[in-house]
Amino acid sequence: MLFSPTGVSECFREWGDIEKDYQQIQDTHRLYKQKLEEVTKLQVSCTAAIERQRKKLKELSASLEECKAKHPEQKLSPEDVESIADIEVSIGERDNTFSEMEAFLPKKNGLYLTLVLGNVNVTLLNKQSKFAYKDEYEKFKLVLTVILFLFSFTCRFLFSYRNLTRTGLRRPSGGALDAMFNFLLVWYYCTLTIRESILINNGSRIRGWWVFHHYVSTFLSGVMLTWPEGTLYQMFRNQFLSYCLYQSFVQFLQYYYQSGCLYRLRALGERHNMDLTVEGFQSWMWRGLTFLLPFLFFGHFWQLYNSVTLFKMFQLPECKEWQVAMCGCSYMVLYLGNFITTLGVVYQKYMKNQDNKSKSL
Ligand code: COA
Repeated sequence: MLFSPTGVSECFREWGDIEKDYQQIQDTHRLYKQKLEEVTKLQVSCTAAIERQRKKLKELSASLEECKAKHPEQKLSPEDVESIADIEVSIGERDNTFSEMEAFLPKKNGLYLTLVLGNVNVTLLNKQSKFAYKDEYEKFKLVLTVILFLFSFTCRFLFSYRNLTRTGLRRPSGGALDAMFNFLLVWYYCTLTIRESILINNGSRIRGWWVFHHYVSTFLSGVMLTWPEGTLYQMFRNQFLSYCLYQSFVQFLQYYYQSGCLYRLRALGERHNMDLTVEGFQSWMWRGLTFLLPFLFFGHFWQLYNSVTLFKMFQLPECKEWQVAMCGCSYMVLYLGNFITTLGVVYQKYMKNQDNKSKSL
């Protein structure tokens, strides 16, 4: 409990102490503001210096290319050719270093973030905050995955078309529930695109496709939301809800893998897993990936199956809804993008792994 003065003299003494504390708070805050100004100045000068160096390096690269092109006339010695190659490698490495530096410097938001948030600085200035934000992103996905799983289960098995018609209800299917479910999906994917843009701003190496995949998913869920009740909707409804159930299950496995990578990387010094050569991490990652990949590929083929089903439905004479073709195209885009990108990620990881192995021999 706080000390509470009883007599007047004690009150005066307490006031004296409070005054001293107050002075100290003011001094600390003044110092804090001064340091903030210094940090802002350093940020500006660092950003400008990086920009200048980048420009110079670009010009130098172009000049070196020109020198190499004129090689026979200029008669470059083998040492010169070797030095040029060394400089080119260093220029490539410097570009990566600059990108890592920029992850800790404020930068202008891209078009999407500017449209959604305005021009507010979203760069987190230390590694702990970046880690905490990424961790929070993974946990957010997990919580929503559980909610979406329960929601799709309810729509699929508790409010299904057959159950309700069997019980004699005239309006089949939980129409409002389906709408709420699709609305939740739209909101979820929209939120993911914003969070992922902020992560990219903070140096995350999320591939452009995964972000685009969430834009397409937002669009797809939006179209599903507008699909009116009818025979065609009912024809696709169960397949769609079963797919959503499966997707939530895969998302749960993905969470286990991604958060495992995140915590292990943090323990190993917070580098990107593509760069990491530590044996223990690599074997854990490959074990995780080999377990996850069959489930992922099955999900991709389900997207293809959804797309084919919708295209077949589109050919039916009673098909009047534009949503059928739109959803079919969206599923096809998702299938192609997810399948090709996942194969690309695995191939790149495999090549990097082989490269690291040959370097360590
Ligand atoms: N969504 C969001 N972020 C992703 C992602 C995804 N699908 N895949 C990778 N990332 C992030 C990683 O967390 C990492 O972030 P960081 O730089 O902040 O640490 C970065 O992108 C680089 O990751 P990378 O090394 O390329 O891949 P990974 O080992 O983390 O994951 C896969 C590889 C194949 C498991 C992952 O890309 C994946 O799950 N893909 C399939 C998604 C899919 O098809 N979903 C539909 C299922 S039906």
